[in-house]
Order: sequence, then C-alpha cells, then structure tokens
Amino acid sequence: FIDIGTLNKQAGVYTYDPGFQCTASCSSAITFIDGDKGQCNYRGYPVDQIAQSSNFLEVSYLLLNGEMPTPEEMQEFDSEIKQHMIIKTKMLSFFNSMPSAAHPMAQMTSVVAGLSAFYPVSLDPKDHKQHMEAAIRMVAKMPMISALIYRNSLGLPAVYPRSDFTYAENLLYMMFSNPTHTTFPQNEKVFKAAAKAIDVFLILHADHEQNASTSTVRIAGSSQANPYAAVSAGIASLWGPAHGGANEAVIQMLEEIGTKENVAEFVRKVKNKEAGVRLMGFGHRVYKNYDPRAKYFKTLVGEVLDGMDIQDPKLEVARELERIALEDEYFIKRKLYPNVDFYTGIMLRAIGIPTSMFTVMFALARTVGWITQWKEMVEEKGFRISRPRQIYIGAPERKLP
Ligand code: ACO
Repeated sequence: FIDIGTLNKQAGVYTYDPGFQCTASCSSAITFIDGDKGQCNYRGYPVDQIAQSSNFLEVSYLLLNGEMPTPEEMQEFDSEIKQHMIIKTKMLSFFNSMPSAAHPMAQMTSVVAGLSAFYPVSLDPKDHKQHMEAAIRMVAKMPMISALIYRNSLGLPAVYPRSDFTYAENLLYMMFSNPTHTTFPQNEKVFKAAAKAIDVFLILHADHEQNASTSTVRIAGSSQANPYAAVSAGIASLWGPAHGGANEAVIQMLEEIGTKENVAEFVRKVKNKEAGVRLMGFGHRVYKNYDPRAKYFKTLVGEVLDGMDIQDPKLEVARELERIALEDEYFIKRKLYPNVDFYTGIMLRAIGIPTSMFTVMFALARTVGWITQWKEMVEEKGFRISRPRQIYIGAPERKLP
C-alpha cells in the first residue's frame, strides 16, 4: 500500500501492483478459476465436463444467460446466430482494401472495430435487449470475419454460411471451401471430426476471467465506448506471444527443437535463461497446477491426429518436452505446467489451420467471453469508468529553462 496523501493531496492509500498480480479489478459471476487446484468453471460447470457434453453455441448461451438452454431456447438462439452470420457487403471492401500479406490479427482488429460503424449500441444499463442483440451479432459474425481474413491472404472470394451447418462446420466451410471447385473437405467423416475438434477448441477458449485481453475489453468498454470497438481492443491485447500468440510460438519452438533427442539440450538452455528462451506453452499467471484445458487437449490432440491418420513428429517432441520439464526441479519449483497453448497448435495444424491464423482462432473463441464480460459490466449497478493510478517517478515540478 502506498500512502498517496502526500503525493496528490488526497487522503488514503492505494495498492501498487505492477502486472496486477494480486488485484481484483471487478466482481464477476461468469468464470471461476482455482489456479492451485487447476480448476476452471463456466457459470459453475467444470470446463472439461462442458467440453465433453455440450457444443459451442450451448456454451455461448450459458455464458451470456447464466444457465444452460432448454431445447426450445437453444433452437431460438441457434436461429438468431444463423440470422446474423453474414457480414454486410460494404464490409467486404474492408478486406479488399487491405494487403493480402497483412497480419491476420491486424485485419481482425480493424474489421471488428469497423463493426461499430454499422451497429451503434445503446449504453443504457437497463437496455438488456440491445446488449444481448449486440452480443449475438458479435458472436455470429466472427466465423465469417475469420474465414475472410484467411481467404484474403490467398486472394479468394467470400464464401457464405450454410444454415444446415453447425457454427464450427460453417467456420471450416467458409475458410476452406472453393466455390468453383469442391467443398472442404471431400471426406464427410474427416470434415465432421475436424469440426468437432474445432468446437471443443472454441468451448475451452470461450472465457477465462480477467486475463489481459478481457481486462482490456472491460477497460475500453468502461468509457461507454461501442462494444465492437471494445472487443477490437481486446483482440489487440490478445495478439502478443505472452497471451494469444503463444500457440504459434509453441509450433515455432517445436520446429526449432526438431527431434526428441534435442529436447534435453533445449530445456537446459531455458533453465539457464540463454538468449531469453522460454518454454512456450508453459507457465501461467493463475494456474500453479496443470491447466484443465491443457489436460483435455493433451488427449484430444492424439485422437485428432489418429482420426485423420496424421503422424506429426512435433507431438512426440512436445510429449518429451512435457515429460522432461515436469520432472525438472526448475519447473517444479516455479510451478510451471503446460498451459492451454501447449498442444492446441499441433491440433490446429492437423486440421489445416495455418500457424498465422492461430491467434485469430483464439480471438474467435474468446469473443463470447469478451462480450459477456462487457455485458456484465455495463449492466452492473454502480458501473463506473476504470481509472487506475500510478506511482510517479519523474522529475519534481521545475521551471522551464
Ligand atoms: N519457461 C521458463 N521459465 C518460465 C516460464 C516458461 N514458460 N514461465 C515463467 N518462467 C519463470 C520465469 O523465468 C521466472 O523465473 P525467475 O523467478 O527465475 O525469474 C518465474 O518462472 C516467474 O515468471 P513470470 O514471468 O514472473 O511469471 P508470469 O506469471 O508473469 O508469466 C506467463 C506468465 C507470461 C504466461 C509466462 O509463464 C510465460 O511467458 N509463458 C510462456 C508464454 C505462454 O505460454 N503464454 C501463454 C499463456 S496462457 C494464455 O495466454 C492463453
């Protein structure tokens, strides 16, 4: 605690907590994490159980409404999502104006912020209906936006969603379908299996309480900015390798290591902090135990690769890396375990998602969490702008020379 009375003539104290290691910025009823036990619940339900038995749209409904939907509620929610999946023709020109080599996250931040130009949203805290409409529209449009980002990089035209496909199937269809050729993939069984794996990916990334990107959405939204602009700020925050960009970095690391035999030497370099190398996909600010999502993906990635008849040497390297690290005093002492990003990259690659699109996939999944957190915040009694303080360490007041 810092006494600020002498600093700015206001009585009282405030906490100095760089990196917010022990600061709760809000109260929330959405996601609960017990980092020591390696537990994560959405609205009270353990995420691994939800991933086992639900689909992403059910989970989106749960996050937004607080309860699992009845069959009738689900049908209505599903049709609302489908109704809003297509983005306006004018928005397609956003993509046309961007270079095809633009980083996918650069495209995503711009396009999502651009939604605010088309959809003004009331910030009357009582206008729950309009908040929910904004949330549904946001979740609905992300698959087409994500697919267009990918297709723009290849110079391919837009593909529109199909009403008989699930949310995850539509994402894969809109990304990979070639209208002048065949739909992706020709093999129906592989398509369904890939879509199921993507659906689980979306569920397990849907929310994670006050991480950097979610806190960014809340801070941006706290000024009563348009929610699409606030989500765009969250996407920018997710971009970096310490957050959403980590699974991309994991793949680069595994490729750099190359074979199982090189793992021990790589771990030695990490422990000696040589050239700033960290074990990507390891460690977490909150989890000081095995991340339950990583545990789920560890099994799922093997199943996906087997189901698709793919042998990826990176999986062997990753398993060996985990085995060595979990037996090593350096990692044990610091409570460093695989996080959600450790195995997901291998799975996404097997499905055909290019590495450059990994963070886009994460953003697509997290959108429902961001918008639910925004909605919870703006509807809260006594909702105020976020305004942290600082410890000023610059020059005292002085005269200009
Ligand atoms: N590999 C090696 N050492 C590590 C790692 C790692 N992945 N993570 C932390 N450490 C070490 C640090 O060097 C430090 O050791 P020291 O006390 O000897 O200096 C100690 O553990 C604590 O590290 P901090 O950076 O203080 O931990 P923090 O909680 O701030 O960082 C973070 C968490 C950013 C996730 C970190 O563990 C990391 O960089 N991991 C790799 C990147 C990654 O996988 N990010 C994805 C996070 S999950 C997500 O966003 C979805």
